[in-house]
Amino acid sequence: MKLPAIFLRITLSLVFALLSGCQMGDSSHMSKSQQRQIQSTFKSIQNSHKTLIDAYEQDSASMPEEMKTLYLQMQKMHRQMTKNHNHMMSGYKKKGMGMQQDNKQMKKRRQMRRRIQNRMSREWYSQLQSMHNQMARQHEQMNRPQKAKQHRKMGEGYGKMKSMVPRNNSSSEEPVNENADPALLNGANLYTQNCASCHGSNAQGIGNAFPPLVNSKWITGEKSVPIRIVMDGLSGEIQVSGTSYNGTMPSFKARLSMAEIAAIINYLRDKSDGDHPQITQDDVVEISNSYQNRNQPWSPEELSGR
Ligand code: HEC
Repeated sequence: MKLPAIFLRITLSLVFALLSGCQMGDSSHMSKSQQRQIQSTFKSIQNSHKTLIDAYEQDSASMPEEMKTLYLQMQKMHRQMTKNHNHMMSGYKKKGMGMQQDNKQMKKRRQMRRRIQNRMSREWYSQLQSMHNQMARQHEQMNRPQKAKQHRKMGEGYGKMKSMVPRNNSSSEEPVNENADPALLNGANLYTQNCASCHGSNAQGIGNAFPPLVNSKWITGEKSVPIRIVMDGLSGEIQVSGTSYNGTMPSFKARLSMAEIAAIINYLRDKSDGDHPQITQDDVVEISNSYQNRNQPWSPEELSGR
């Protein structure tokens, strides 16, 4: 398991993703009282994290390998999240350098840095939220309801953090939907930024929790299947290359543009054996229009029972 490499990649790609998503516009400020609120939620998350880790160190010997992998991964993600969070908060403390230098341009630059930082932190809270929900489900399957509950609570905490970080009210948070040719996008980079944290740097899957994407019938099958999975997520028991998984995959429709979704799936289809028709942006748009009001993950039955 090459976790450090995965993490370096995620971090780097997050930075690129966020830089490129950055736009000028209105400010994204956090008031003093908002700052206090988020700090208090953060503090309680840090405490619960510590409790979880202490307990984990106690009984890690009796834990299945996959669960250990998840814990290690979670700890790394937690460290990154903490770093980002602190960075974001320190950005709120910084004032301008004084009237003279604090001209319009500097102000704009500071705003932009904050927006990037906000977005980055939100991204990490999201990742950890999914991670903890995933771990809760694993514990439920192992019949450890107490542990599952702790992880659910952590997941909720991150959901709360996410909602506390200001969003730009401009459209820069929305995925870009201007006409783009998926062939011009770098599917491999997009994969690393969005999928590798769970599915592995080579799309080979991680343990029993995250299925492989290379040579998976869910990727290489009929176009609408992978598109629907990436748009709205997937939850329930599935088989991938003879192994069964039962987790939940998050929705990406708010994070990726139509062209980006196509580019990622094409990248994975190309990596798989055999010839699979390319997915175009229009394919994604068509599926998106057909399932506009969908707001929950697909079940495996829904995807195969059309
Ligand atoms: C937070 C973790 C997470 C992230 C990030 C994630 N997935 Fe998943 N994904 C899962 C889990 C868990 C499952 C298994 C769901 C189940 O058991 O029903 C899954 C299942 C899938 C499947 C169906 C099973 C398979 O192996 O083919 C596809 C396709 C898929 N993911 C594609 C993607 C793509 C593409 C991305 C990036 C855009 C991505 N996933 C990002 C967790 C994640």
